[in-house]
Amino acid sequence: MLDNPSELTAKPDHVPDELVFDYDYVNPRGMAELGYYAAIKTLHNGPDIIWSPRYGGHWVMTRAEDIRLAQQNYEIFSHEELFIPRTSAQLVPLTTDPPRHARYRAVLNYGFTPQKIKALRTDIRTLTVDLIEKLKSQDGCEFVSEFARIVPVIVFLNLVDLPRDRREEFIQWAIDCNAEMNLAKREQAYERVAAFLKNILDERDGPTADDLLTHISGWRHNPRCQDPGELTSMALLLFLGGLDTVAAELSLIAMHLAEHPGHRRRLREEPDIIPRATEEYLRRFALSNTGRIVTRDFTHKGVTFNKGDMVLVPVAFSGIDDRVYDNPLEVDFDRDGLVRAPASTPHFHNSFGNGPHYCLGAPLARAEIQIFLEEFPKRIPELRLDPARPPVWRAGSVEGLYHLHLLWN
Ligand code: HEM
Repeated sequence: MLDNPSELTAKPDHVPDELVFDYDYVNPRGMAELGYYAAIKTLHNGPDIIWSPRYGGHWVMTRAEDIRLAQQNYEIFSHEELFIPRTSAQLVPLTTDPPRHARYRAVLNYGFTPQKIKALRTDIRTLTVDLIEKLKSQDGCEFVSEFARIVPVIVFLNLVDLPRDRREEFIQWAIDCNAEMNLAKREQAYERVAAFLKNILDERDGPTADDLLTHISGWRHNPRCQDPGELTSMALLLFLGGLDTVAAELSLIAMHLAEHPGHRRRLREEPDIIPRATEEYLRRFALSNTGRIVTRDFTHKGVTFNKGDMVLVPVAFSGIDDRVYDNPLEVDFDRDGLVRAPASTPHFHNSFGNGPHYCLGAPLARAEIQIFLEEFPKRIPELRLDPARPPVWRAGSVEGLYHLHLLWN
C-alpha cells in the first residue's frame, strides 16, 4: 500500500481459500444500512480468523479470545508495525514492545496519575454541565460537533496546554491521520501534526510547567533518550489517542440513549449503576482497530501465520462476541461480571486493550463517560433521533459517527 487503496492483494500460499473474506475494515459492507456493529457481527457466522486482501493483505481476529491473545502476546504479535497498511509512522510507546516500551510509558504516565485525574474531574464536570445547559435551550443538536468533539477535546487540550480555539482544526488533523488510507496522504497528515508538535516541544524545552507536553519535552535530557524524534513520537500518540476516541464513544452512547428511554430513566433514577453502565457501554461500543506484525511462524486454531504477516486486532468484534456475552448487541446494565476487575484478573471487556499497551487514557476516558452519564440524562430527559437525518457512521483506526442529529423539544 498503497497508492491505490482499493487494490486487492493476491493471497499468499499459506492462506487457505476458505479463510479469504473481502473485509474492508475502513468501510465494512452493510455499515451504512445496518450500522457498524451489526454489519461486522455478520462475520461471526464464518471462521474465527479470516484473511482480507485489503490494504496489503492481513489476518483479522474476530473472536474475543483471539483478540485478547494478540493484545497480550507481543512476542508473537509485535506492536512494532501497528498500522494496516504498514507505514513508517512511529508512535512510541505504542509502536514498541517490552522491554523498550516501559521507558516511554513511564514518561507519559505523568499525565494520568490518580491525583491528576481527580483534579481533571472538576473541569470535566463544569464543561459538561455548562454545555448541556446551553444546548438544552435549543430544540436539539448535532451531537458530534456540538458536544462530543468539544468537552473531551477541551479536557485533552488543557492536559497538554494547546490552544482551545484551534480545537476544530486539531480534530480534523487527527481524523486525517486515523482515517486516510492512501499511504502518501496519510504520511503527509502525520508529518503536518508531527511538525507542529515538534515546534511546541522545542519551545517548551527549559521552562518548568505542569502540562504533559512540557514533561515530554524534558525527556531529551534523559540519558535513556536515544533520539529526539522520540519526543515527537510520544506527543503524536497522545494527540491521536486523546482527540478522537472519547468523542467517538460519547457519540455512540448518546445514539443509544436516544432510542432507549428505559436506560435514560435508570441512569437518572439509579445513579449508583453509572460505573456499571460505563463498563457496559465500553464493552458494547469498543472502537479501536490496530495491527500487529507476526514475529515468527506460528499456528493457532489450525491457522498458519507466517513471520511478517500483518494481523488486524479489531476490538469492536470482541465486545459483541456471543460466545462471551449473551445478547451482545443489547446494552444491559445488569449484565453478569459487569465490574472493573482488579489488575491481576482478566477485565470484563477488551476495549482498553490488555497487557503492556493497556490504554493509558483509560482513567480519563472513564471519568468523562461517567460524568456524561451523570449529567446528560437528568438534564435532557426526553431525547430522540431526528428521523429526517439518521446517524452517519465512520470506521478506520477508530470507529464512530460523523453526524448524530438529536431532537428533544
Ligand atoms: C473511550 C476512549 C478510549 C478507548 C476506547 C481507547 C482504547 C485504547 C486501546 C484499545 C488501546 C490499546 C491499543 C493496542 O493494543 O493496540 C489504547 C492505548 C492507548 N491509549 Fe487509549 N483509548 C481511549 C481513550 C484514550 C485517551 C483519552 C487517551 C489520552 C489522552 C488515550 C491514550 C492512549 C495511549 C497513549 C495508548 C498507548 C499505551 C501504550 O502503548 O502503552 N486513550 N487505547
